[in-house]
Amino acid sequence: MKNNPSKKGQLLKELRSQREIISGEQLSATLGISRVSVWKHIHKLQELGYQIMSTHNGYRLIDSPDIPFPWEFADRDFNILYYPEVSSTMDTAKDLARKNCPDFTVVVAGRQTRGRGRLKRQWLSDDGGLYFTMVLRPDIPVLMSSRVNFLASLTLARVLRELFQIDAAVKWPNDILVDDHKISGMLSELEAETDRVLFISIGMGINVNNDPSEVEPGASSLKKIIGREISKKMLLTRFLAEFEGHTKRADFENVISEWKRYTVTLNRRVKIVTHKEVSEGLAVDVEQDGALVLELADGTRKKIVYGDCFHQG
Ligand code: BTN
Repeated sequence: MKNNPSKKGQLLKELRSQREIISGEQLSATLGISRVSVWKHIHKLQELGYQIMSTHNGYRLIDSPDIPFPWEFADRDFNILYYPEVSSTMDTAKDLARKNCPDFTVVVAGRQTRGRGRLKRQWLSDDGGLYFTMVLRPDIPVLMSSRVNFLASLTLARVLRELFQIDAAVKWPNDILVDDHKISGMLSELEAETDRVLFISIGMGINVNNDPSEVEPGASSLKKIIGREISKKMLLTRFLAEFEGHTKRADFENVISEWKRYTVTLNRRVKIVTHKEVSEGLAVDVEQDGALVLELADGTRKKIVYGDCFHQG
């Protein structure tokens, strides 16, 4: 079923298509709503931070806030939910998933009061960063599910490289580093029944215009690296389009080998911390299920499926 774009989306599209003032009458005819409704939508958009000039001849859009409101995502506004503040998009997404929200529902937040990272760490979630969780319902066996996570981090690394010509690399399992500084982390939660995935929630935190480096010296942000503000709307639009394209085509076959082309973890000495133990060794491979293979000091190999990875030098 094709969903109709929202009236606010249509209204903004019309306003953006012209530099001139557009009359309320014209907008009302194009959108198929009354002039009073046009005015109400304009008023709401103004309240939300859109600068719209309103004269007796009509309306003109001057500027838009960099907020990922659903109507900013042309064909997918029906499955994007934006909240100025949540405790964690992981929790909001999980509630929606358990209530049967459709595949590829995306929960985005302006900030999080209890943003979380892997192994129960806190994820700093100030204004300026991009925080979102995607609910995916891939028709794949549980054993293959980690490939979806690897596909997400691989896609983000490629998008960052293409958009900003930066050396974005992936660190096992799913961090994005630029010049050895973390600019994005990913958290994934899964619910399954027998051997089928019911849903995977993939939460991504991207340091865009925020600066986490004072609290986390190993972290940086796109703004710091590139030297200017980056549009979160643009980045999210591009990432979702690329990632959804890959998931719809079920491009899972070569994910791990592609991911290996962009990783800075392999052939490096690493320390892996899990809930149970700490392991150190040389990272020699990542297997098709996403597990990291370590070569230990005594020459034996150890497979680690989950944990936090620290590059040693
Ligand atoms: C990590 O590197 O430890 C994972 C960080 C994941 C952070 C994102 S931000 C959006 C989503 N909501 C959360 O509470 N966490 C993830």
